[in-house]
Amino acid sequence: MDRAFIGALVRDFYGRVRADARLGPIFASQIHGDWEPHLEKMTDFWCSVILKNGAYSGRPVPAHLKLKQVREDDFDIWLGCFRDTVEARCPPEVAVVFMERAERIARSLKLAMFFRLDRARNGTTE
Ligand code: HEM
Repeated sequence: MDRAFIGALVRDFYGRVRADARLGPIFASQIHGDWEPHLEKMTDFWCSVILKNGAYSGRPVPAHLKLKQVREDDFDIWLGCFRDTVEARCPPEVAVVFMERAERIARSLKLAMFFRLDRARNGTTE
């Protein structure tokens, strides 16, 4: 596992995301023209998560809080694209590690974006 492998995986994943009818337009509204800076940033991010090499030093929560058009369900689509990608490119035991990390981070981003105490008190996540 190295940066070249992760870089190829990231590019495959964002190819799927951009082709998705729901997620494609969300990304297109945020990333104009050159995708390379985003792809390099996301490669750094996944290198930090998987290789623990400290390549990424950004702040994912504010980057997502400003995406007002994103719905909670969109994370299921995102995770589905991610699962398709890692299952196509990684041995099963590696795919599991990527999925565990992605699901954990997705959960914390969703909490930051959608958690509402009043709803939690009512015992509903809707
Ligand atoms: C529906 C789900 C999601 C949508 C629509 C979404 C969309 C976006 C967009 C539009 C950006 C800004 C791109 C840019 O300007 O460079 C971004 C950044 C980012 N996303 Fe997501 N994202 C989603 C879920 C996730 C998940 C689950 C993860 C991690 C597992 C993640 C990790 C990141 C990171 C690390 C950045 C870079 C933040 C920064 O340092 O600026 N995203 N995302």
